[in-house]
Amino acid sequence: MISIAVAGKGGAGKTTFSALTIRYLLESGFKPLLAIDADPNSNLNEALGVTYSTTIGEIAEKLKEVPEEMSKEMWLSIQGEEALVESEGFDLLVMGRPEGPGCYCAANNLLRNYIDRLSRAYKALVIDNEAGMEHLNRRLTRDIDTLFLIAEPTPKGITTAERLLNLARHLDLSIGRYLLIINKVTDEEEVEFILKGKDLPLLGFLPLDENIPEFERKLRPLLEFPVDSSYWKKLKELLNFAFSKEMERK
Ligand SMILES: Nc1ncnc2c1ncn2[C@@H]1O[C@H](COP(=O)(O)OP(=O)(O)OP(=O)(O)O)[C@@H](O)[C@H]1O
Ligand SMILES: [Mg+2]
Repeated sequence: MISIAVAGKGGAGKTTFSALTIRYLLESGFKPLLAIDADPNSNLNEALGVTYSTTIGEIAEKLKEVPEEMSKEMWLSIQGEEALVESEGFDLLVMGRPEGPGCYCAANNLLRNYIDRLSRAYKALVIDNEAGMEHLNRRLTRDIDTLFLIAEPTPKGITTAERLLNLARHLDLSIGRYLLIINKVTDEEEVEFILKGKDLPLLGFLPLDENIPEFERKLRPLLEFPVDSSYWKKLKELLNFAFSKEMERK
């Protein structure tokens, strides 16, 4: 089992990275895979080319109305089926909007148990998060092996990444390792200069690739992204390195 969470500042490229990492894992045989869209302004489904009808947030709302005599666990596993979008090699669960800040409140524990149990049936788990880090504290999912932090290739982007990393390390999160990726890179030397002297868990750079916004404009799913594109080639290289042990074990 590989479990991955993707975090970073708004617009840094989390959803793009999540969608293409899902494709990489599927192509590497990590099937079935569970994708979780944990951003309230969800759009991972578009990148994956699937549609959804309900969210975990909506189910949590209805959970309040479940009659006393009915087991909430039972009810949740039936409703949960409805929220689970099934596609080729992967399923998608959309979290939607929580009730309060960082909280699906009364339903938190029930939902956590449900998602925990559900994710055990998969070979890989990929969670696309909302911008920031604080919400990771909801801990709606089991332990995460790798948290990818996606950053913009500017001094400000990299400072933000440093801040997010420190924040994450102070929250009581159960994360195996943090890996930083600088995205939309056009000048590697310039980025190396910004990174100089900083102690960051850098995995590598991903290039600015015009195919990505082009796909977005045409509403084409990233699962059909051209294999000769610079982003895809570099992503594969970085992930092969990051998951070399898991690939060997297969
Ligand atoms: N390597 C890249 N090259 C070119 N454009 C990119 C690249 N990565 C992402 N983009 C573009 O940047 C924008 C933001 O990307 P994406 O939606 O993946 O970011 P996000 O971090 O998920 O954003 P949000 O915080 O809004 O969820 C999109 O328009 C996307 O097409
Ligand atoms: Mg996103």
